[in-house]
Amino acid sequence: MSSRYDDRETSLSRALCAEVGLVLAEQPPSRVLDVGCGTGATLQHIRAHLPGAGLVGIDPNEAAVRSARRLLGSSPDIQVHAMAAEDLAGAAAGRLGRFDLVLVHLSLGLMRDPFIVLRALAGMLCPHGHCYVVDLLRPDDWDGRSVPVALGARDASERAYLRSQLAASLSLAELSAVGDEVERRVPGVHAEVRRGGLGGYDPGSPAARRIWTRAPRISGLLASSGTRPGSGEQMHTVAHMVIRHDEGPR
Ligand SMILES: C[S@@+](CC[C@H](N)C(=O)[O-])C[C@H]1O[C@@H](n2cnc3c(N)ncnc32)[C@H](O)[C@@H]1O
Repeated sequence: MSSRYDDRETSLSRALCAEVGLVLAEQPPSRVLDVGCGTGATLQHIRAHLPGAGLVGIDPNEAAVRSARRLLGSSPDIQVHAMAAEDLAGAAAGRLGRFDLVLVHLSLGLMRDPFIVLRALAGMLCPHGHCYVVDLLRPDDWDGRSVPVALGARDASERAYLRSQLAASLSLAELSAVGDEVERRVPGVHAEVRRGGLGGYDPGSPAARRIWTRAPRISGLLASSGTRPGSGEQMHTVAHMVIRHDEGPR
């Protein structure tokens, strides 16, 4: 993992993922799972704005889990487990319980079988809960070598890092097919996949305006991060998938 690249280029995306995730449902979530939580920055962002919510992070990287535990401190409301998302297809899912919001930020492509993981996560949603996945998209015509300039790599090692991330990523068509299959296999869930924009919506569209209105911190995040040339195109390299559980009482 290129922590230098991730620190520089993905912190805004991480905060936007948390902010959009928090307003997907009408009610603020009371239990949130962060899959591939890394060093805990997303959980920290959520805790700052949703104190009292039960937060769970999972990540197979033991060093990242230790950092996340250090960052988040000890609290009965927060657990961070060293485990892979694939383990959720077994008994671990029952032990973690159900969630109103599940976030999967820039980690889906690293999983051995994204379908198995998303099917398990869809089954862990509370009625009217949401799973929000943000991930790098492999361009349909990718040649296996080039790295889109929009991704902002600064040197050869960052390009090599991004090449490996792109190689692991799904194309839009592949991710949509996974979403369709999850819908078919898990009763009561609906999956949507979009490319780029705010939460997958064109920034000027009514759907994006609804997100801006409900998540007012987004404007401040964008303003404070500044806009560098190409950041609009960078947004277009990302997929947004929402899996919604439609059944059951509120
Ligand atoms: C690019 S980092 C993103 C971390 C975090 N989501 C963020 O936005 O800062 C990818 C993370 O996915 C984790 N990861 C890799 N394989 C995984 C798997 N099979 N299940 C869950 N997480 C995984 C890595 O350990 C790493 O922490």
